[in-house]
Amino acid sequence: MRTNQPQTIYLSEYQAPAYLVDHVSLRFELFEDGARVHSTLSMRQNPAAGQSGGPLVLDGDSLTLESLSLNGQPLASGEYQNEGDKLVIPVVPDSFELAVVTWIEPQNNTRLEGLYKSSGMFCTQCEAEGFRCITYYPDRPDVMARFQTRVEADKSAYPVLLSNGNPIEQGDLENGRHFVTWEDPFPKPAYLFALVAGDLVEKRDTFTTVSGRDIDLRIYVEARNARKCDYAMDALKRSMRWDEEVYGREYDLDIFMIVAVDDFNMGAMENKGLNIFNSSCVLASQDTATDAAFQRIEAIVAHEYFHNWSGNRVTCRDWFQLSLKEGFTVFRDSQFSADMGSPTVKRIEDVTLLRTAQFAEDAGPMAHPVRPASYMEISNFYTLTIYEKGAEVVRMIHNLLGDDMFRKGSDLYFERHDGQAVTTDDFVKAMEDASGRDLGQFRLWYEQAGTPVLAVSDHYDEVQGVYRLDIRQSVPDTPGQTGKLPQHIPFGLGLLDSEGQPLPLNLNADEQSGPVERVLELTESEHRFEFHGLRERPVPSLLRDFSAPVRVHYPWTREQLLFLMSHDPDGFNRWDAGQKLAVDVIQSLVDAPQGTEIEPRLVEAYRLLLNDTELDQALVAKMLLLPSEAYLIELSEQADVPAIHDARELVLTHLAQALRDDLLACYQRNAGQGDYQLTPGAIARRSLRNTALAWLLHIDDEHGRALAVEQIEQADNMTDRLGALRALVNSGFESERNQALAAFFERFQDDPQVVELWFSVQASSDRAGQLPQIRALLDHPAFDWKNPNKVRSVVGVFAGQNLAAFHKPDGSGYRFLADQVCRLDDSNPQIAARLVSPLTRWKKFSPQYSSQMKAALERIRDKTELSRDVYEVVHKSLA
Ligand code: PHE
Ligand code: ZN
Repeated sequence: MRTNQPQTIYLSEYQAPAYLVDHVSLRFELFEDGARVHSTLSMRQNPAAGQSGGPLVLDGDSLTLESLSLNGQPLASGEYQNEGDKLVIPVVPDSFELAVVTWIEPQNNTRLEGLYKSSGMFCTQCEAEGFRCITYYPDRPDVMARFQTRVEADKSAYPVLLSNGNPIEQGDLENGRHFVTWEDPFPKPAYLFALVAGDLVEKRDTFTTVSGRDIDLRIYVEARNARKCDYAMDALKRSMRWDEEVYGREYDLDIFMIVAVDDFNMGAMENKGLNIFNSSCVLASQDTATDAAFQRIEAIVAHEYFHNWSGNRVTCRDWFQLSLKEGFTVFRDSQFSADMGSPTVKRIEDVTLLRTAQFAEDAGPMAHPVRPASYMEISNFYTLTIYEKGAEVVRMIHNLLGDDMFRKGSDLYFERHDGQAVTTDDFVKAMEDASGRDLGQFRLWYEQAGTPVLAVSDHYDEVQGVYRLDIRQSVPDTPGQTGKLPQHIPFGLGLLDSEGQPLPLNLNADEQSGPVERVLELTESEHRFEFHGLRERPVPSLLRDFSAPVRVHYPWTREQLLFLMSHDPDGFNRWDAGQKLAVDVIQSLVDAPQGTEIEPRLVEAYRLLLNDTELDQALVAKMLLLPSEAYLIELSEQADVPAIHDARELVLTHLAQALRDDLLACYQRNAGQGDYQLTPGAIARRSLRNTALAWLLHIDDEHGRALAVEQIEQADNMTDRLGALRALVNSGFESERNQALAAFFERFQDDPQVVELWFSVQASSDRAGQLPQIRALLDHPAFDWKNPNKVRSVVGVFAGQNLAAFHKPDGSGYRFLADQVCRLDDSNPQIAARLVSPLTRWKKFSPQYSSQMKAALERIRDKTELSRDVYEVVHKSLA
């Protein structure tokens, strides 16, 4: 905790570490009132460091130093300085052994960084800078060492003792205690260290690798969760196979473990051989998890597993390179999910997140490049830009190089840098070297923040039969960055004739049967492309499959959008055309709420969709979802949230009324599907059915009400149960809503994951989640301020998803959020800083709102003893 200004750290000031660690030997004595950590470091001067013979500086945070000795000699108090967060030993030999004993208090650790306790078990979280909360250490990713870890604890309370690598020794100790020693043969940075001690049950399986080695797979959970591991285990095996087949990556240790913990700041963590997961990202059963949760679990299990190569074997030189591992690994997990399910749907989901939330981040006060140039608190940089935009950047490289060259590039990258801590530039260089392509200009994607804008205009010359596209590129200013250069943008394109047939793209008059789809490469601020031999004016399909993370401006007509909605062979653009049309219709209502007729062609287009049994039902299910309020806000200049909310609701009401019979038919057609399955088709049918139900209840349809009540009673899975509950909660049927909520809680109150759903269904509802109700949820016995998932499912969901309630004109939502941030800042700064996010966008909103949002930020700023995490976000937002 601090009040004075935290330091800014700059990439330009990077220096290689002065000392390296060859080996770490750790011994943990775990007790109820604290833990003693014995650490022995074999260290030596770094030959590659700028200068030699300087002081040894170790990082530490919230540690009590019990003893310190160098080469077996205890150091006297004059021989070192303990400066709070640094331990400095001015004089050390070229190579030496340092022994440090620290005392820490995991049971009082509410920040959930370092070693802490969660539902009675000990666990760790060391990324990014948590290891320094365990012992003094050069806590930076370019210091890679081999670890041996001995864990000692009471045998009956903590029968399971885990750490990274392979178990090499175990035994009993005095006083009912026992120990296990683990050895990790692979050098790793401290942020990948992990330890778990608890009363856990294990689910086991094996995986035989491509070279025939048997890997022992284990998932450790509390006994009550024993039946919720199957899906994750399966997903793990699929991931292991996929990484062998698609990237040629085989697993390296003999054992791979996953542990589920309830209190966790993030989703999951890729610690070497011992991944630690937020319970909500690994535990699932048909009864308790929605389809979306299953898919998320599959993706996160894969993501963490893939990090074994893209993150652990090859890691980051410094935290500015975070996207080296995260962007690449998100790209890999999205390829995996696409392969496991519907590629188009996966693309739609990824782009929805990117365009809604990452574009907003990139246009706000916290905007930063994929490779940032500076930070105050690295925890604040686990962002959508690092993860999602970073993944888009890797995807563009993939698009530019093609499958084969990309694979060559990734092979070269892994081979060249195995066991090293490297930079995003090293990654791009490997791609360049393997493919022979020049990615010089492309590197700007890593350096320049902000979403590039493409202004597209076209002209058809009917005499010449030539269609012309003019594309102008600009990259907006962002904090600290102005006057940017044009970037290298792959631009997917197709042209359709009036029948919806793809036309050849002939780039010159001699060409006659060009390909029907091209990826144009934009490198200048202006480009002109001419397409020859066209007998009629084509309809353009722009930025196919969202080939680059950019905004495209083109004067779409509603005719064109309706046409693409039903004809574009590119599934993504087909969906996007529908979104654009709906956005246009909603926006015209926002601009002129009175007397604007709701586009009858939108209604007809939705009618077609509701009755379309030919088209991929997964795509239909996505196309039926109206653009979210968050996306509509992102698209507007000065958002008036209640106006946007009302306009969107009006369109929904109008559609539901006009299509009532079609909705009922769609519901019936997709009801009663036999056994629960997780295939894309079955998921799509549940989604269609629940969308139809939600729309019917949006207009308080009596028949819909009966269907919802019945669906809750009969559901054999959480997707249908929650779908019906959500529909009731968002309806005007107050007594059914309250009854359903009470019954749901009654039934699932002992399951934290389901209680989170129960909280978030209410917190996201403009009917059940107004401020007084939100306050009541915070007072509910099942709510727990120490549990990040609970905080997110009430406070985070309210401010991030219940936008009309959060943006009350009286500013009460903003003050509420500010109060919760201040409260959390003392116990868990990382979570507090993340919760501030909705307020940081204050400039985006019309004056009545923005001034009050700003006031709420100032209220946080003026709190005494602000953490570095919240300090950075609040001060940058107010700058
Ligand atoms: N490295 C983790 C992931 O992306 C995320 C994480 C970051 C978890 C920091 C905990 C703390 O998989
Ligand atoms: Zn990751």
